[in-house]
This record gives sequence, C-alpha cells and structure tokens, in this order.
Amino acid sequence: MTNNQPAPDGVMRLINGYWNTGVIGAAATHRVFTHLENGAGTAEEIAALAEISERGAQSLLDGLVSVELVALEDGRYRNTPAASAFLVEGKPASLAGFAKLKLQHTGSLIDLPEVVRTGGPLTGGETEVADNPHWEGIVPAIAGVSVPAADAGVEALGIADAGEITILDVGGGSGIYSSIWLKANPAARAVQLDWEPINAIARRLVAEQGVGERFTTLNGDFHTTDFGTGEYDIAVYSHIAHQENAESNIEVFTRLRKALKPGGALVVADYVVDDDRSAPAFPLLFALEMLLKSKEGGTWRRADYRDWLIKAGFEDVTFHDAPPATMVIAR
Ligand SMILES: C[S@@+](CC[C@H](N)C(=O)[O-])C[C@H]1O[C@@H](n2cnc3c(N)ncnc32)[C@H](O)[C@@H]1O
Repeated sequence: MTNNQPAPDGVMRLINGYWNTGVIGAAATHRVFTHLENGAGTAEEIAALAEISERGAQSLLDGLVSVELVALEDGRYRNTPAASAFLVEGKPASLAGFAKLKLQHTGSLIDLPEVVRTGGPLTGGETEVADNPHWEGIVPAIAGVSVPAADAGVEALGIADAGEITILDVGGGSGIYSSIWLKANPAARAVQLDWEPINAIARRLVAEQGVGERFTTLNGDFHTTDFGTGEYDIAVYSHIAHQENAESNIEVFTRLRKALKPGGALVVADYVVDDDRSAPAFPLLFALEMLLKSKEGGTWRRADYRDWLIKAGFEDVTFHDAPPATMVIAR
C-alpha cells in the first residue's frame, strides 16, 4: 500500500454496518442498556439479569464498546451518555423499541438493488395501503423519535403560555405531540386524526401521561377527511410528508391552512435535506427507506417545503433544528 492509498477499515466498517443494527437491536431486546443503567457492570451480571448466556453477554458488550454506546472502566461496563439518554427503557426519548424494530427490518434490504433498478417498492409499497397493520408495530416504537421535535415545539410555539388552544395532529401515531404539549399547557386540547387501531394505541399512551381527558381522536384517511374551517390554533403533520408526493403535500397543506384560525401555525416535522442535497447525513439516507417502502415518497428539500407552504397560502415559513429531523413552522 502506498502512502496515498486510504486504509480499508473505514469502508470495511461501513460494509459491515448491519452489525450496528444487530448489536443494538439484540442489546435492546435483552434490556442490556437498562440493566447497565441500574448498576450491572460485568458480562456475568448482565447474563444473570437478562437471562442470557455469559458468552452472549460478553459478545454483546464487546460489540457495544465497538459502536461506542458502552464504555469499559476499571473492568466494569457502563452506558455512555448517549446510550443512557436514548436506549434505556422508560425514559421519555427512549429509542429502545425503535432499535428492536429496525433489527426486524434488516431483511428487507435484500430487495434494495432491485428497488433501486425499478425505482420503487417491489410489492406495491407500504405507506399507500389504507389502514396498514404495519403501523401498529411502528407507531409505539417511533414515539421517541419525535420527542426532540415535540420538545422544540413547546419552546418555538410558546405552548406553555398559549392558554386555551386547540391542536390538530394529522397522522399523530402514538400521540407523542399531544402527550408533551398537553402536559406543557393544562388548558390545551388536542384532536388526532389517524386510522382507528392507531388512535386506540394513542389514547392509551396519552392517558398514561395523565392528559387523556383533553385528547380526542378522529378515525379516517387524512386524504379524504374534512379538517374543518378556522378551528385550530396549531396543526401538526409530523413524519408524513416523506410518504407523500409534492401534489399531495400541497393539497394537505392547503386544507390545513383553511383549518387553522387566523394567525394559527402549521408544524411540519420531517427529515429535510439541504437545497443542494449535500446534507444532513441521516435524511439523505432515509430517502432510500422511502424508495423501499413508498411509491412516491422521499426526503424533500427546504426549498420544496417553502414552495409548497407558500402555494398552500402560508406567508411566513421558518426552519428549526430538531435533529435528526427539522421542524418547519408556517403561519
Ligand atoms: C411515520 S408515522 C408518524 C407518527 C407521528 N406523527 C410522529 O411523528 O411520531 C405515520 C402515521 O401516519 C398515519 N397515516 C399514514 N397514512 C395515513 C392516512 N392516509 N390517513 C391517516 N393516517 C395515516 C399512520 O397510521 C401513522 O400513525
């Protein structure tokens, strides 16, 4: 190898990237991060608490050190701050369920070369199927993904001091925005529009947060359900725009504009890419997930959102970081 030749280990690590998903998903399945958080610190202790083999526990801990989610100090393992914040069960922004879900998804990657060749899903897509049962597994697992955006929204929209506001969450899923915003503002009320089985999950999760009496649900397809006129102070459309094409997003934004009271705000949270498609890293990669799962979805640029929202009648469009997502606020 000459001095100019790059070393292969970076590419080698990327080619083996599925092991990141594997080790994190397996560790989450066996609650390793939660046991470490509660004081376990050796393979023997993890094996006993998780009821797994000691050989398996040691291999998981080695892998977790490799991906820098666990650190080894004086012979004892501990969660890094990131693992502690995002992979311990029961914490508000926990992604432990998401890690388990993603491990189940890895098999579908075998189709990716053919999906790229044809330009879409091999079997008709998932996001276009009405009332698709796949949401029932996904929605509770992704609740933690939207916590940073929902938290950022409390600040950006002044939710806590907004008084008796009414919120519409289209495709609200787990009801995570309602849980966080209704807790922040005891006078606020929220309505979620989603499929009936998903709304049942949301009602349970929002009630667990103690704010269920101010949360109601509407069952149906948001493409065809009337949002009303001048009824809401805030509307939310989070992690939906990426499954829709431009025409559909403009159409929904137009009806949401009409549903808002004068001065009301639409919040769109999604994986948004820079206008030249050079960054951010996660939204760029997420475009492949939409290629695999949707006929016309994708990760859209800031310029797309601005254009669509202006066409829908909004006048003021601002972008707020909620990594790895971006929150777009339109008034
Ligand atoms: C990716 S999840 C996002 C959930 C939530 N907004 C969040 O950010 O955590 C998409 C949600 O949209 C709902 N959904 C998708 N297509 C829909 C449609 N046509 N009508 C109603 N709900 C739909 C799904 O059931 C699911 O709850």
